[in-house]
Amino acid sequence: MYALPIYMDNNATTCVDHHVMEAMLPFFTKTYGNAASKSHSFGWAAEQAVDVARKQTSALIGCEPNEIIFTSGATESINLALKGVFELYSSKGNHIITVCTEHKAVLDTCSHLKKMGAEITYLHVNKNGLIDINELKQKIRKSTVLTSVMYANNETGVIQNIKEIGEVAKEKGILFFSDATQAVGKVSVDVLKDQIDILSLSGHKMYGPKGAGALYVRRKNPRVRLISQIDGGGHERGLRSGTLNVPGIVGLGKASEICNKTLAEESRKITLLRDYFEQEIKKSDITINGGNTLRTPNTSNISFNKTASEQLLPLLTQKLAVSSGSACTSDTLEPSYVLRAMGLSAYEAKSSIRFSLGRFNTKEEIDFAIKYVSECVERIK
Ligand SMILES: Cc1ncc(COP(=O)(O)O)c(C=O)c1O
Repeated sequence: MYALPIYMDNNATTCVDHHVMEAMLPFFTKTYGNAASKSHSFGWAAEQAVDVARKQTSALIGCEPNEIIFTSGATESINLALKGVFELYSSKGNHIITVCTEHKAVLDTCSHLKKMGAEITYLHVNKNGLIDINELKQKIRKSTVLTSVMYANNETGVIQNIKEIGEVAKEKGILFFSDATQAVGKVSVDVLKDQIDILSLSGHKMYGPKGAGALYVRRKNPRVRLISQIDGGGHERGLRSGTLNVPGIVGLGKASEICNKTLAEESRKITLLRDYFEQEIKKSDITINGGNTLRTPNTSNISFNKTASEQLLPLLTQKLAVSSGSACTSDTLEPSYVLRAMGLSAYEAKSSIRFSLGRFNTKEEIDFAIKYVSECVERIK
């Protein structure tokens, strides 16, 4: 049995896992102390819970607990990473390399930094959504301090060659920041193996709560330093002041623990469902964007070749919670800049829909989705 509409928009956000919610609840009404209160048991209990969450979160990405800075989510983590590096390393250089298909949280922060005197280079991607490592190498200058390349794309799920990028950054002596918001919890992420120096993640993309995220900041080989962007009581090693969101952090920790335990099995299950979905949908005239390269197991970005999503999306969303690969600005659909960068025409980009599956999708739901998508496509024809 399933209820309509079927949720297939897990890259936008996920349902909080009920184990996560249960872990969080006592921290609202029972153990509600301030983790910075050192003089009584309420504070100690909160601090202890934050310590546990720090261990759980660090274990998911293979770092040390003291390399985790808790934030309000990936957007804040990204701002801290980019602005914090730019400010601290300004005497070394002002050049940052990023990619034209990054999330707006990265692109808009880079635009801001440009106004502050940064020089930004945007790498291109090929038709599979991947950057060219040689282009990265060529673009590195004496003044380059950082390269920022997302782990997995939010629209297509395309996974970059992170390890290679990490190696180049190390070899050239620049820092490597990866926005791994769409990768952590879906694929195995290991900051040591991947040679990532700074990494952003977000609770609500991995069955944790909204408003809780983290930034990994490497402490050894090299020790990364940042200028804080929120000043105050000196929380989180002075990098992010403000009373800790203890329930949110506990939730993020629990979500990380669950992902760590179930990742291999869950990714197999979701890949099977996603591949089955694509196999069946392929009977219509479609293109799977990023379909020829490694993707996150849950993401399927599909161009319905003869069907504009202006017509398709309103029909589909009557029964399926999916999103267009395009950003909606007022009443018009702007073609997705991610798909345009991969070489799709404006029309092709506009005719694309993102289906992103998750932990709670069932085979019955996917069967329904397959049938319903075909029906909608036929109706528009
Ligand atoms: C790749 C990527 N980066 C950053 C973000 C921003 O995350 P948050 O909602 O936690 O600020 C998102 C969310 O859509 C994302 O998909």
